[in-house]
Amino acid sequence: QILIFDFGSQYTQLIARRVRELNVYCEIHPYTELPFLTLDASVKGVILSGSPCSVRDTGAPNPKLKGVRGHVPVLGVCYGAQLMVNQEHGVVEPSQVREYGRARLTHVDSENPLFKGMDSKAVVWMSHADTILKLPEHLNVIASTESVEYAAYQIQDEQTYGIQFHPEVTHTAEGKQLLHNFVVGICGCSQDWTPAHFVEDTVRELREKLGDDKVVLGLSGGVDSSVAAMLIHRAIGKNLHCIFVNNGLLRKNEFEQVLHSYKDLGLNVKGVDASKDFYVALAGKTDPEHKRKAIGRVFIEVFDKEAHRIKDVKWLGQGTIYPDVIESVSVKGPSATIKSHHNVGGLPEKMHLKVVEPLNTLFKDEVREVGRELGLPETILGRHPFPGPGLAIRILGEITEEKVRILQNVDDLFIKGLKKTGLYDEVWQAGAILLPVQSVGVMGDERTYENVVALRAVTSVDGMTADWAHLPYEFLADVSNDIINKVKGVNRVVYDISSKPPATIEWE
Ligand code: XMP
Repeated sequence: QILIFDFGSQYTQLIARRVRELNVYCEIHPYTELPFLTLDASVKGVILSGSPCSVRDTGAPNPKLKGVRGHVPVLGVCYGAQLMVNQEHGVVEPSQVREYGRARLTHVDSENPLFKGMDSKAVVWMSHADTILKLPEHLNVIASTESVEYAAYQIQDEQTYGIQFHPEVTHTAEGKQLLHNFVVGICGCSQDWTPAHFVEDTVRELREKLGDDKVVLGLSGGVDSSVAAMLIHRAIGKNLHCIFVNNGLLRKNEFEQVLHSYKDLGLNVKGVDASKDFYVALAGKTDPEHKRKAIGRVFIEVFDKEAHRIKDVKWLGQGTIYPDVIESVSVKGPSATIKSHHNVGGLPEKMHLKVVEPLNTLFKDEVREVGRELGLPETILGRHPFPGPGLAIRILGEITEEKVRILQNVDDLFIKGLKKTGLYDEVWQAGAILLPVQSVGVMGDERTYENVVALRAVTSVDGMTADWAHLPYEFLADVSNDIINKVKGVNRVVYDISSKPPATIEWE
């Protein structure tokens, strides 16, 4: 495996994804572990990430690299490269010219294994405020651009490299080749980390860990919990008890349909309809965070009660994925809470169970690949993300059963329309929002005074940033008509054309 040490760059996760795309396993660790590190034989190489800091700042990360340099190949990216130059007594200074964005290599040492097979005029992506002004003698320059003489270097007699550009971003045209050269060529990693391999290893490990113990797991209909359940099920079969709670805030007919498909997959699943409990807890609540908290609390109560009906449960299975784990060990400071997305954070503590999280080393797209390997149907794997609090955060203001029914019908027509026209897979997420606004309309000769709904569809990679989906006017015209004609209580449809940031995907 490859270890990536994070110095706080926004691109660290991307490095990990690119390495994984080469079918090589890698992990991200905070740079603070570096001084105490002893590498075992499984570690074939180390990558040092970029950072928002400058090596010239007092207090900037400056860990000793004795434990890695000379033991395994090392690649410093951006800050990582400048850090090593600084430690070797070279000169790093603020750059005089702008070094952001596209640049073209003008010189490449094509004999160097890091640049094997690469175009000597390749486009690379720069993003740094500092630059290397002077290399110590024992560091050899191996690539330059027009404005950056020391774009890449190798330390003499070591498999240690530094590059000032970012190979992990897609704008660096041959970044993948460069990472391949490092990870496979220089470090000698074998490219055998495939979904099939992952399933085989994980199922074996789960069997060893869980033995004859019982596990309880909450299914949500989403990709992560479904794949986690399938993996655990493959390891321990009927000893996995799944619970699927209907919170009354799911999409139209979703509870029945999803429950059915889980049963078809052979999962031992119990559906619990607790809609009424949720509606009672939500009555009178209008603040989005209060609604989220109420839903989280009732979910824990319902789940806990159901779990206690199963005798001798020892474990709680969860679909936690790698980005959630990285988030909690990140070297960055806590960012302001915009929305509390963690729906059931208190669950493990409350239940006194040990936690098993078989997906906590995977990125979302890898979870899908593993799901495919396990034979999950595309109807589950290809589903848009859906928030834990469901339609409650798409009904602005107070929740009532009547409003849920209206929104379910609107959402159903919108999603069905997207599927019918083949647009569903082109957008990352879509849904409808019921606004706390009434507007005047006319139907036949009658004046109407009814609800307004907003449609929202976005394109995105990870939900962190998003653009509104440019759906065809014809399509929007058709769904708008369909909704107003078929859903009683709605007389106006609007389309949300805000991007994230500054808006968010959900309205609450
Ligand atoms: P925002 O609205 O923050 O949404 O741009 C980003 C993604 O997160 C989902 N979302 C939630 N998911 N619990 C969840 O499990 C929540 O409270 C929650 N709020 C938003 C949203 O649907 C989108 O995919």
